Amino acid sequence: MTTEAVSGSATAVAHPSLAMIKYWGKQDTTENIPATPSLAVTLDGLDTTTHVVLYPSEASGSPSDIVKIDGVSQPIQRYKGFFDAFRRLASENGIDLTRWWFMAESSSNFPSAAGLASSASGFAALVLACAGASGLGDVPDTRDLSAVARVGSASAARSLWGGFTQLNAGAKSAAPVKDASWWPNLRIIVAEVEKGPKSFSSRMAMESTRLHSPYYKAWLEDSSILFRQAMAGLESRDLSILGPAIRKSYMRMFATMFASDPPIVYWKPGSLSLINACEKIRGDGIQAWETMDAGPQVKVFCLDENTEAISRRLQMALPGVNLRICTVGGAPVLRNG
Ligand code: PMV
Repeated sequence: MTTEAVSGSATAVAHPSLAMIKYWGKQDTTENIPATPSLAVTLDGLDTTTHVVLYPSEASGSPSDIVKIDGVSQPIQRYKGFFDAFRRLASENGIDLTRWWFMAESSSNFPSAAGLASSASGFAALVLACAGASGLGDVPDTRDLSAVARVGSASAARSLWGGFTQLNAGAKSAAPVKDASWWPNLRIIVAEVEKGPKSFSSRMAMESTRLHSPYYKAWLEDSSILFRQAMAGLESRDLSILGPAIRKSYMRMFATMFASDPPIVYWKPGSLSLINACEKIRGDGIQAWETMDAGPQVKVFCLDENTEAISRRLQMALPGVNLRICTVGGAPVLRNG
């Protein structure tokens, strides 16, 4: 039995989920079911804050839910699947939201849609704030919230937990692997190579790779091997095992994109300068393993004691580059009101 919702509001803060082993390609495009297993770390210091208000649709004067990022209204079609999935979850938990709209306002302390996983933290914060505003609070299991966030953006399914998380190929929700305290001296240097939005959405680029890259099948087969290697490195907290798997995963993901017709190229000259710098740093015996996502930014996995030396070398390779040093982040948090 369901009961009618009542007005409410809530604010949630979530962090991006940076993949060490990449999800790239979907088994199901509408439901956003990943075709590859991914293993990710939640980044502390990068935050998305989302405030959600629930109000009765007839009193609203609006024809739909509303989402604003940095004060700018977003095309609501992009969010329809997410809100439909959330309403289904609410109904399964006894709350009828059919005659209610959500109004969400979101902002991040880092650039959106630029390859810094803002969609991961964005949908994770959104699902949690919607749950708070609807009075669901802690009632749904985190895995259920993860499954709803996945419909918005598959990487967001992972951002519902802190620490290290996995999202299996074919899975509807992510799962925690290790909590944030697992690897205290691990650091991730986030290098912002270029500001401004990326040239193609990851959604469009993934589909194009699946349909037009002859290497896509090999990428799918290889990704589960890399996933197992990375898990072994994480389990033993050994960057000399985890690092090579991280590097292979992003390089092979991009290889499938470069081979697509037309090719998809997110890299910029500055990205390549930093990739080359990491290779030289490793040549000097320091663990510095870079990765990239759907954008030109470069993220470098390293140990605390080497962050200063590595940062200096990255600055020399790309003068003026903005660097943020992140530790492993915690789970998203919900505040009522
Ligand atoms: O969840 P999306 O649609 O933003 O895609 C994320 C894709 C990558 O960032 C490149 C890889 C990943 O696993 O996060």
